[in-house]
Amino acid sequence: MTGCAQQNDQTKNYYIISYGCQMNQYDSECLAGQLGAMGYLCTDDPEKADIILINTCCVRESAEKKIYGKIGEFKRLKTSNPSLIIGIAGCMAQKDQAAIFKKAPHVDIILGTHNIDQLLDLVHEKQTHKNKLIAVDHNQRVASSIPAARGGQISAWVPIMYGCNNFCTYCIVPYVRGREQSRPVQDIVKEIQELAQQGFKEITLLGQNVNSYGKDAGSSADFAELLTIIDKEGGIERIRYMTSHPRDMNDKVIAAIQSSRHICEQFHLPVQSGSNAILKAMNRGYTTEDYSRLTAKIRSAFPHASLTTDLIVGFPGETDELFEETLQFIKAIRFDAAYTFLYSPRSGTPAATMPAQVPEAIKKERLHRLMEVQNEISLAINKQLEGSCLEVLVEGPSKNDPDTMTGRTRTNKIVLWKATEQDLPGNLAMIKITHAQTWVLKGQRC
Ligand code: SAH
Ligand code: SF4
Ligand code: F3S
Repeated sequence: MTGCAQQNDQTKNYYIISYGCQMNQYDSECLAGQLGAMGYLCTDDPEKADIILINTCCVRESAEKKIYGKIGEFKRLKTSNPSLIIGIAGCMAQKDQAAIFKKAPHVDIILGTHNIDQLLDLVHEKQTHKNKLIAVDHNQRVASSIPAARGGQISAWVPIMYGCNNFCTYCIVPYVRGREQSRPVQDIVKEIQELAQQGFKEITLLGQNVNSYGKDAGSSADFAELLTIIDKEGGIERIRYMTSHPRDMNDKVIAAIQSSRHICEQFHLPVQSGSNAILKAMNRGYTTEDYSRLTAKIRSAFPHASLTTDLIVGFPGETDELFEETLQFIKAIRFDAAYTFLYSPRSGTPAATMPAQVPEAIKKERLHRLMEVQNEISLAINKQLEGSCLEVLVEGPSKNDPDTMTGRTRTNKIVLWKATEQDLPGNLAMIKITHAQTWVLKGQRC
């Protein structure tokens, strides 16, 4: 969550802190929505909270360490206010379950990823019986429509499916989010139409692998068909989606985007490695040649599209030569941006016990080199935009400087410009790019 819309010292307050991906951010909005329905208000100050919820991620060890540190910090508040309820939700809760009580006895409630909708029951039970509570089911269907207290007023997350069936060998997500479950088309469309009525201008459809939408029995449409329906019936100016699996991105989806009006020309396709040996060991299901063909197809269909990716360095067995292949690959593809991660062994995943684990110092050195190469490419691509006028969705004044407006292009690049009276959040503005940087574009009204 990015802060509270309204606060009030007189009523009961909740404080929610979220770690992890967009799906977790959305779950936090659903937790907030339930507490709001119970009369609680949001506070940005944990000292004023009657309920503290920590929505957790366990995708890398660094995330977990940070979260346990945060849980420890709240012990002091519990000591001074024993009626304070502390709940741990999300992926780490799903994974560690009761072990969290052992590490942090001041925690009251543990809420798994499939049980988000049960928060109020647990809070009520905690208040009446005072015992510690766990709700972690692995097989339960995730509730499809929980009222969400949205973190913004212009852009909103809309999950289209939960879980993942892919089992990439490094990844904990399928173990903590369960198997793929597609939400019914009518629930998704209804949620989007309501968002449009409330004035939202942009939605991002969420799923660990959106391209496999509808492959489980629960849906009457596949991903391409869903995109077309949302484009026509959603009433939303800009539609984004994440994450696409390069193996499952297909011609039908590309054609649906091409014939759409509102789906943005932004392709986030995590490649993870530029070495075929490593991709195979990761169980990704494509080769670098497949990936290159796919990106060529996308670029020929959308010459102005942005292409971004995720990369992991230091996967077991990654030698200097194989890492070099990744460097060569990113130089050949030329991504607009890449999110780069040090491989983090996750207990229970196949890669954690693979031989030839890479020492931490080598991983860090490779990450540094990778980022240097990528930053240079990102800057060169952005520099090509200097002088052009781009359509930007106005988000609002910058946090650091109220005279500077921020917004995003259809390709999801951040743009900053000097605020004018016309710049109302949610409006579209044409901005001429005058100074491109690696991560942001600076400009002025055209
Ligand atoms: N479902 C999405 C995102 C999953 S998590 C996808 O398939 O792309 C987001 C990113 O975290 C992944 O793309 C991957 O790059 C990274 N990641 C996942 N597990 C990791 C691990 N064990 N160590 C380091 N990075 C990891
Ligand atoms: Fe993890 Fe792979 Fe599923 Fe993404 S597709 S969530 S990386 S298992
Ligand atoms: Fe983290 Fe769970 Fe998302 S492990 S990346 S919060 S699905």
